[in-house]
Amino acid sequence: MGPQNHTDTDANRVHIFDTTLRDGEQSPGISLNTAEKVEIAQQLARLGVDVIEAGFPITSPGDFEAVEKISRVVEGPTICGLARTHKADIDAAWGAIKEAARPRIHTFISTSDIHIQHQLQTDREDVKGQARAAVALAKSYCEDVEFSPMDATRADIEFTAEVCAIAVEEGATVVNIPDTVGYTTPEEYADYFRRLYELVPALREVEMSVHCHDDLGMAVANSYAGVLAGARQVECAVNGIGERAGNCSLEEIAMLVGVREDVHDLRTGINTREIARTSRMVSRLTGYPVQPNKAIVGRNAFAHESGIHQDGVLKERSTYEIMDATEVGLESNSIVLGKHSGRHALKDALEQLGFKVEGQALNNAFKAFKEVADRKKQVTALDLEAIVSDEMRDRAEAHELAWFEVEAGTRRPPVAKVAVTQPSGEETVGESSGDGPVDAIFHAIQDAAGTECELVEYKVEAVTGGEDALGEVTVQLRAAGRLATGQGVATDILEASARAYVRALSNALEGAATREAEAATAEAAVERTPGP
Ligand code: KIV
Ligand code: ZN
Repeated sequence: MGPQNHTDTDANRVHIFDTTLRDGEQSPGISLNTAEKVEIAQQLARLGVDVIEAGFPITSPGDFEAVEKISRVVEGPTICGLARTHKADIDAAWGAIKEAARPRIHTFISTSDIHIQHQLQTDREDVKGQARAAVALAKSYCEDVEFSPMDATRADIEFTAEVCAIAVEEGATVVNIPDTVGYTTPEEYADYFRRLYELVPALREVEMSVHCHDDLGMAVANSYAGVLAGARQVECAVNGIGERAGNCSLEEIAMLVGVREDVHDLRTGINTREIARTSRMVSRLTGYPVQPNKAIVGRNAFAHESGIHQDGVLKERSTYEIMDATEVGLESNSIVLGKHSGRHALKDALEQLGFKVEGQALNNAFKAFKEVADRKKQVTALDLEAIVSDEMRDRAEAHELAWFEVEAGTRRPPVAKVAVTQPSGEETVGESSGDGPVDAIFHAIQDAAGTECELVEYKVEAVTGGEDALGEVTVQLRAAGRLATGQGVATDILEASARAYVRALSNALEGAATREAEAATAEAAVERTPGP
């Protein structure tokens, strides 16, 4: 079995491999900076995941930096970096994770003929050679090596088995079977595992893993089927985010394993009480909302609307509930601060919520807290989470909202004036009218930034109930050829909207600048590389 199992005596322990920061981060419009990725990784460690796939280090300097930082500061889980079979990828992955207490290199190559012919434009022999060389190289750096035959569920199983056997021969500790395009069914996937074990008995000596996409809404069911067939690692993402329809949802598979332990006698190491907070953090920082009826973490997951259900639950909870909301941390709105609460009380409350905020960051959080507390009677745990996440989003290299003014009413078109602080520190002012106050503000921001944007999505939510609730706004826009998201939190939704828009715009411009710099580096590298 893989290295984790040397310490795990429990053969029925299912390891949770979180890929929110890698496959999840590949969802369109998500652009997390290093600080945000570290914050999520710290929360994943509190949640008790076994492995964090922190990124794909070769893809950009930003990805490398984030994986390196997470490897240095996040304690507990194995930290994994993704790499194709190319030497440069594996070198970059190792470079980024080498300081982790438990590093892992995850290398992959497709085994389906569709991918081999059309994407890789090579042949099966070459794939075998690349898999062998990649696992051997990764193993020369790192004891823990995971290998994935990409698009395995659409590949010839005999060929996939040959490639997996090579990976095991070269020392892979984990073999992962990706359902890359979300195509398989539970029975088919379980059969795939059974047949692989027959073809390559040595797979029983390593840890087998599942990685399922949700294109047909089967990711959790397929992952579960793979686990019942012998896999002991599940690759999943918080809120199920990921390429296209997403990945297996972490919270769903973790609760499925926990709630139905009676039928399968399997366990995870997940601290389920951290699930709701982790879901909120990921949703906030990625800008990906959680659908209200989403299992486990949706706003309505524990709500009962029909009279019959309400009546039943009031008499006896188990009539219509298979889990208690407190098991997934949904009752964590208990901390209450008010306008007289001081810096110490705030620091303590934040620590209870898992945020370690000190020095200047604490001063900033305190200032933001005071602004809210002056306008709101009670500041709850959910408010504090929103305020601190909001504060974390401001960073030195970004555009920031300096101030805005808006005149609006029913008798003349609204007019807004907005000042934006550029990354250079210079303040530029823009002015515009619009269809409504929010529209006028958004156009004034474009004017101040000197950039045209297309608004893709605009969403306002109340952080808690009550008339004085904090408003949380999410904006998705397209600017400079990039899709980007931003959030803003304030008691005034116009202010929250302006902040969210400036952040989304800033993320788009930053993403475009990084892409240009990367393209220039790649071009220079091609020029330096001698021809064949
Ligand atoms: O979906 C997939 O095949 C992947 C691999 C890199 C494991 O994400
Ligand atoms: Zn994937």
